[in-house]
Amino acid sequence: MARPASRFVCQSCGDSFLRWEGQCRTCGTWNSLVETIVSERPGRPASVGSPATPVPLRDLAEPDLTRLAVGIGEFDRVLGGGLVPGSLVLLGGEPGIGKSTLILAAAAGVATGTRTKAGGRGRGGPELAPGGVLYASGEESVGQLRLRARRMGLTDGPAGERVRVIAETDVERIVEAARATRPALLVVDSIQTVALDELSGPAGSVGQVREAAARFLDLAKTEGIPVVLVGHVTKDGTLAGPKTLEHVVDAVLTLEGERGGSLRLLRASKNRFGSTEEVGVFAMGEDGLREVADPARAFLALQAEPAPGSAVAATLEGSRPLLVEVQALVTQATFGTPRRTVSGLDFNRVALLLAVLGRRAGVGLGSHDVYVSIAGGVTIDEPALDLPACLALASSLRDRPVPAGLVATGEVGLLGELRAVGGLERRLREAERLGFLRAIVPAAGRSGEKVPVRVGALEVVPCTTLREALAVGLIPREAESPAPS
Ligand code: TYD
Ligand code: MG
Repeated sequence: MARPASRFVCQSCGDSFLRWEGQCRTCGTWNSLVETIVSERPGRPASVGSPATPVPLRDLAEPDLTRLAVGIGEFDRVLGGGLVPGSLVLLGGEPGIGKSTLILAAAAGVATGTRTKAGGRGRGGPELAPGGVLYASGEESVGQLRLRARRMGLTDGPAGERVRVIAETDVERIVEAARATRPALLVVDSIQTVALDELSGPAGSVGQVREAAARFLDLAKTEGIPVVLVGHVTKDGTLAGPKTLEHVVDAVLTLEGERGGSLRLLRASKNRFGSTEEVGVFAMGEDGLREVADPARAFLALQAEPAPGSAVAATLEGSRPLLVEVQALVTQATFGTPRRTVSGLDFNRVALLLAVLGRRAGVGLGSHDVYVSIAGGVTIDEPALDLPACLALASSLRDRPVPAGLVATGEVGLLGELRAVGGLERRLREAERLGFLRAIVPAAGRSGEKVPVRVGALEVVPCTTLREALAVGLIPREAESPAPS
């Protein structure tokens, strides 16, 4: 077979070169050249099935959206009811977080046709492909895979028979195997370990990852086989690979959490066939990832005594309320520029909150080192986290705890005002269910939504400004046990 020519294409201006160079000679962008195959291959995904003659909208064929449930309720929920035939899904996450564990469980679920409540496996369900599930493992040896499967109890029973493994890193051979066996699902673990012979770059390089993904996309679209690519992402979200794949795949799922801890959050940051708002919550146990029975409280660390620097936030992820604990620690900075260490929240948002706290609420942290995080290692990007974060910060600075049983939610504006958040009622009902007694919320409801005075046993305290909320939310000095002098 003739070796297809490859070019180094600038990702910024699109010009191509024969050799790699650090800087694009045309537009001057640094590090933008990516090795790309230029020989025309039949069946490139973009052109598959696209009509040469324009077709009126009303005559376009409906796609087959019968979903294939993976058999894990929380996973199916995030997918939007299951895997769509012919879709390409990227499952990303830090190394060691549990991607292989999760996808192996899903592979077993698909292979054995486990039905779940969330699964929308049409009436009767599609016939299981004779090939079951094909699991291409480039990262681990079959021995390691076998150990994991045994640990998860999947080696005996139907899954042990219907999940087929190939230890293979050659993209062409994986695609060939899939075309030959026609599995119900192909798993590639991981996209960074597979490579094409004809590209010179090592496995995991941007060119390899992109081209491999294009091949798997082609396979998915032409054969209708859903393909899940596993990809490693480091904490800063970069590393050649997943980032460059985001626009190629149909859905991007991310598994996050603290590696030391057991809780994992699965979320979709992109989903062409469903919402990107739903999250799934899992706990890593001795025998794999278990679904968490009560996700709303999963991330609440239980402290016997309220400690300064901690506040509980009532957040909403899609339709699911999650209560999380924001933790803050502030200390007098010793020298130079004060440190700001933020994890789980948006860094710039915290910077803004620090400014508002200083100017509008009398909580000056300009000369303090500030550490803020969300307990459990999850990331929450929601304006409603503003108020609880401010409470935690003020609580730490003043060394006054937020009383037990208090929950807060609300966006903080630049003027120090509290702004309404969506789904207030749902957040409050969940907080009440979990036994919280008091909630600080923005006084203004969103678009006509009335702020309730009380939700069951939960007393609701509406506040207009951040200053007011801090006064309500921190235990006053007088009420404390005699402070050490
Ligand atoms: P793994 O799925 O290999 O992570 P990834 O594919 O994202 O790199 O899981 C890695 C960790 O999970 C490993 O430290 C061991 C732990 N683990 C359990 O705690 N229980 C289990 O049942 C399994 C299979 C793994
Ligand atoms: Mg793995």
